[in-house]
Amino acid sequence: MRILVTGGAGFIGSALCRHLISDTAHEVVNLDKLTYAANLDSLKSLDGNPRYRFVKADICDRAAVDAVFREHKPDGIIHLAAESHVDRSIDGPGEFIKTNIVGTYTLLDIANAYVRDGHKSFRFHHVSTDEVYGSLGDTGEFTEETPYAPNSPYSASKASSDHLARAWHHTFHLPVVMTNCSNNYGPFQFPEKLIPLVLLRGLEGKELPVYGKGDNVRDWLYVDDHARALALVFEKGVDGEKYNVGGHNEVANIKVVETICALLDELAPKAFKHRDLIRFVQDRPGHDKRYAIDASKIERELGWKPRETFETGLKATVAWYLENRWWWEAIQARYSGQRLGLAKKA
Ligand code: NAD
Ligand code: DAU
Repeated sequence: MRILVTGGAGFIGSALCRHLISDTAHEVVNLDKLTYAANLDSLKSLDGNPRYRFVKADICDRAAVDAVFREHKPDGIIHLAAESHVDRSIDGPGEFIKTNIVGTYTLLDIANAYVRDGHKSFRFHHVSTDEVYGSLGDTGEFTEETPYAPNSPYSASKASSDHLARAWHHTFHLPVVMTNCSNNYGPFQFPEKLIPLVLLRGLEGKELPVYGKGDNVRDWLYVDDHARALALVFEKGVDGEKYNVGGHNEVANIKVVETICALLDELAPKAFKHRDLIRFVQDRPGHDKRYAIDASKIERELGWKPRETFETGLKATVAWYLENRWWWEAIQARYSGQRLGLAKKA
């Protein structure tokens, strides 16, 4: 099939493009606006591949997206394009409302017209997050039936887009599948997110900012496991259904940071212990306490299972960043002095 991937120059989107080209026979048209979070270096391995094409476009730009549909005639879309960083959504929610809500609406509307135009087997896969479910206490997991309770401008915008995708299926019978995934980590992640931020700051001997007491819990999934889940749901998921995706790897933030420090001590030793760089800093406003995903539906119905544990995945990630300085040094050069890796003051 020819799959239109939106946001394919981002962290998860680029992993998906690499997976679709390396491990399947699908063709990929990658549509991306190339915001600060995008990186075409992450797609270098696909350069020149006849099954891969890139188009620079904004998902809010109806004429541009229409033209892509007309020219490439995709068999389906896997929609990942989004503003994705919670801290940025607190500093400036506007872009999140535009891209995540208006952009998703634009794609749904165009896809709906395309299906009515005769492309009956077209499928719309909307990619979302576990953050739409809100925050958990000490026990329990998010299931596909957990009511939505988004707490940040980011998660509220993603929740809105989920509701739009659901409504387009319910009202217009657009063939929609949806996935809600937990925190991803792995190679090629922009170093404003916790794991690459701590890793790169640790390598440079800079302070490592841990929000609040470091007792917030996230459920970590290696990005290639997510990419396999996305391809599987796109191919085999049931129209109108949603699937939670997660790695059964609940870890408190302080434990994540300490584990990265121990890996850096082992793989890139310095005169000091990396954990001495840890600083507890001002908490994120409205910081969700705990996320945990019940992924039993996708495991049971589609046979998906994560291949990496947090231990194997994190070690591979640290090793990748050590071996691929070219990738992140180019980002640091591009964004030096800007938000990248900025720590909130203690
Ligand atoms: P990312 O920020 O790394 O990449 C987002 C990509 O979307 C970038 O390449 C950017 O240029 C592109 N983009 C942004 N606005 C656009 C627009 N208006 N038009 C076209 N392209 C645009 O994000 P990510 O971490 O790879 O997340 C991808 C998707 O997966 C998002 O929808 C996110 O909500 C979801 N998700 C992320 C995680 C995670 O842990 N990172 C977990 C679950 C779900
Ligand atoms: O749960 C899925 C979500 O995971 C995705 O939908 C989002 O797109 C993705 O950004 C991620 O959101 P988080 O807010 O959980 O990720 P982040 O890496 O920003 O933070 C992870 C945890 O670490 C969170 O509890 C906040 C904390 N943190 C983060 C940073 C950047 C710190 O303690 N210090 C930091 O410097």
